[in-house]
Amino acid sequence: MQTVVEAEGLTKVYAPRHRGAKPVVAVDGIRFAVRAGQVFGFLGPNGAGKTTTIRMCTGITRPTAGRIAVSGFDIVADPIRAKERIGVVSDAAGLYTEMDAWGNLLFFASLHNIPSGKAAARAEHLLRLFGLNDWRHSPVGTFSTGMKKHLAIAVALMHEPAILFLDEPTTGLDVQSARQLRTIVHDLPDHGTTVFLTTHYIEEADRLCHRIAIISGGRVVAEGTPAELKDGAQGEHAIDLCLDRDANGVAGALAQEPCIREVLVTGERLRLRVEDPAVVFPLLLDTLGSHGLKVLSINTARPSLEDAFVRLTGLRSEVLQNEKEHR
Ligand SMILES: Nc1ncnc2c1ncn2[C@@H]1O[C@H](COP(=O)(O)OP(=O)(O)O)[C@@H](O)[C@H]1O
Ligand SMILES: [Mg+2]
Repeated sequence: MQTVVEAEGLTKVYAPRHRGAKPVVAVDGIRFAVRAGQVFGFLGPNGAGKTTTIRMCTGITRPTAGRIAVSGFDIVADPIRAKERIGVVSDAAGLYTEMDAWGNLLFFASLHNIPSGKAAARAEHLLRLFGLNDWRHSPVGTFSTGMKKHLAIAVALMHEPAILFLDEPTTGLDVQSARQLRTIVHDLPDHGTTVFLTTHYIEEADRLCHRIAIISGGRVVAEGTPAELKDGAQGEHAIDLCLDRDANGVAGALAQEPCIREVLVTGERLRLRVEDPAVVFPLLLDTLGSHGLKVLSINTARPSLEDAFVRLTGLRSEVLQNEKEHR
């Protein structure tokens, strides 16, 4: 399979912000390859180095070390040819709010010297693809945040880039717009665009990406398909229980058991990470019984991407999850 983006030894060290401070190693020697026709995701918490990576890949920030090739063109040595093959959206900024959607699309086409007939056909196609056809003559200033985001992506696709970079595309969008956007992003490879996106939403990475790199502290700590990453957490199962009363009183006793790796309590709900459910069950039911707790339901689950993330990064999944609740 053809590789669209190839990064090796990619490093970015920011100079200290003030005297006496240490330099910040934002990206620490990472390597990855994005294959044609795929959605490739960088999953990691805030400060992991996701935006810095995109800025280096798109030629906005110069790497301190390492190299990046886009469709074979080095972004530092051959920036013009590399950038012709890149579309990038970091936020909706860059749109002209007093112009309508059509005007924005054609203006960006002119910047790329796309002949007008071709530009019009491309704009038509993209307005339909992004569900903006009915608003083509409305000033962009009247658009919702979700519509602006859709248009920003359409604009970035006008010159038919080989790769589209999306930095946290659904952050700040309402649930409905985020869902619409994910559907579109998911389908982009079918329309000939390879996608590189960053996210701190586990479900988003799981649903959208053919391959995921988990990034933490400027390093790629794991890379693979969602299924491979979940397999990486193999030898681990989750047991979910629903009890008749608050489970906090029993958590301490369970956590002491060597066959139980982790105990998470939310009210009457209990989640255990264990190696072998068969070993855990008798002991679990005993312990719950001796605390006078009744089991209302019990389920065992295969490791999720969240389990893999926790295991691979050593971080608590809340570094990603909390922000989801504030959407
Ligand atoms: N212009 C900058 N100058 C100094 N440090 C920076 C700059 N931009 C980002 N950083 C630092 O680099 C690290 C990675 O940041 P960033 O790439 O924005 O992460 P993410 O996008 O994953 O949240 C963070 O510690 C951040 O504070
Ligand atoms: Mg960022």
